[in-house]
Amino acid sequence: MDHAISPESPSLSRRQLLNFLTGTAVATTVGAVLYPAAQFLVPPLEVSEGGGILAKDKNGTPITARQLLAEPSGTRALIAGLAGEPTYLTIQDNGVLAPMGIVDNCTHLGCTFPWNPAEQQFQCPCHGSRYTPEGVVVRGPANLPLKIVHVAIQDDAIWLYPWTELDPRTGELPWWV
Ligand code: FES
Repeated sequence: MDHAISPESPSLSRRQLLNFLTGTAVATTVGAVLYPAAQFLVPPLEVSEGGGILAKDKNGTPITARQLLAEPSGTRALIAGLAGEPTYLTIQDNGVLAPMGIVDNCTHLGCTFPWNPAEQQFQCPCHGSRYTPEGVVVRGPANLPLKIVHVAIQDDAIWLYPWTELDPRTGELPWWV
């Protein structure tokens, strides 16, 4: 029986080992160079684990807190919110973003409505419902408060989260949950 080892075998093994080591070194170097570049080029995640989404403008571009807070106090900025619902974000008198966003969807029959700064109300043009800055009904025919969402800033990004716990305006579970 021939147990002779091919003279090619050891050198082949050394070559394979060298190839492996060279490949690993190249992959590590390329990875170290590309990772920061990829982080710069790839946009941040737009959906969080808690069901939150980034606030966006009408073109679908995320709005930064710095952009929004450059507007004067009292501004109601209309942005694309959860499930695409237009949502008002408020810059409070102290220049801070309000932690509660107001969904621009009248609880009577679903019209969108403008903010009336002179009267400090949301006023629905369809049938005349009016709401306080917090979305409480001042005048019907609407008889439910406006839907609200949580607003939070993290690393200059504005996140919106569903409001599923007690509604602070009524002390009850929200009607939309
Ligand atoms: S839809 Fe707003 S008042 Fe009717």
